[in-house]
Amino acid sequence: MNSPAHHGLEVTIRPLVEGDLPAADRIVRVAFGTFLGMPDPSGFMGDAALARTRWFADPSAVLAAAYAGKLVGSNFATNWGSFGFFGPLTVEPEYWNRGIAQQLLGPTMDIFRRWGNRHLGLYTFAHSPKHMVLYQKFGFWPRDLVCNFTKGMDGAIEAPRDTWRFSESKLADRESILDACREVTGAVFEGLDVQREIHAVADQQLGDTVLVWDASRLAAFAVCHTGAGSEAGSGVCYVKFAAVRPGNRAGQDFVRLLRSIEALAASRNAPKITADVNCARREAFRAMLANGFRPGMQGVAMETGDARSGYNRSDVYILDDWR
Ligand SMILES: CC(C)(COP(=O)(O)OP(=O)(O)OC[C@H]1O[C@@H](n2cnc3c(N)ncnc32)[C@H](O)[C@@H]1OP(=O)(O)O)[C@@H](O)C(=O)NCCC(=O)NCCS
Repeated sequence: MNSPAHHGLEVTIRPLVEGDLPAADRIVRVAFGTFLGMPDPSGFMGDAALARTRWFADPSAVLAAAYAGKLVGSNFATNWGSFGFFGPLTVEPEYWNRGIAQQLLGPTMDIFRRWGNRHLGLYTFAHSPKHMVLYQKFGFWPRDLVCNFTKGMDGAIEAPRDTWRFSESKLADRESILDACREVTGAVFEGLDVQREIHAVADQQLGDTVLVWDASRLAAFAVCHTGAGSEAGSGVCYVKFAAVRPGNRAGQDFVRLLRSIEALAASRNAPKITADVNCARREAFRAMLANGFRPGMQGVAMETGDARSGYNRSDVYILDDWR
């Protein structure tokens, strides 16, 4: 891939290869750790990890920036069918403000065009003018705040009835379960499809996907990471993506879904659950509070299109994280 000329430092943009992963993982940590002013920036994210897991989920979705034969930055794109997002985008701190992120973003937008996503987004720091300016150049505008909720738990929790886990399903049934998940997400936003996340969790043993049923009909599901080496880290159950079928039972089904996530967390010895909610999804936001989740850190969603595009609406019960 060619990189466009820039006033800063001209780097080579190419697909990230497996041999880049240790360096990419390190840069992700030091870039965020430095931006956040951590005394030891490399300690960012602790024993949670995402470079390896995301790369193995879809190597063609990750771009590298190289300078003088060395990795200096990377960007991870994610394809959820009709919706695409990117992040983490990181650059080695000593090379900041020399146009490297912009050289990564041009080809990232080409990836989205190839995928044909009709809506795009990202999650970023709400207080940073640099991030606003950078992403606006590529058509993203700040929209709603995104709240990171946490809940601490102790003791065992019984899974609600009619719920079970993807890992418990027969191999022969998996395609139809993925179809059912696609039907639920598609009912919220046409073409939304997170099967890559479900596959990544199952194939790489990163956690599990909980499934909430109304008899033979899937009402809701949640793709969860747990433990070291996943995007959660030790002692944490992290909801990567969860969705409830829209309709007049959605509120009740969301509560059942939260209970089944808690049961999964308890069974995996994860005393803490984390899950992100876009504040435009007001009913889901209120339900999180009502079910004992505490709002913590917040960031902002930047999106293409206007306020009607995408799936951030008051009655949408989706938990997701575009980081
Ligand atoms: C965010 C990050 C990826 C940007 O990378 P970068 O290579 O420094 O970005 P670029 O140089 O391509 O672009 C930055 C732009 O913001 C501008 N900028 C910098 N500081 C600014 C400020 N305070 N106000 C407004 N604009 C600012 C720069 O001038 C540049 O625009 P220009 O080329 O038109 O001059 C990098 O700083 C990083 O790794 N940060 C830590 C991790 C992170 O925050 N990742 C993104 C999470 S969403």
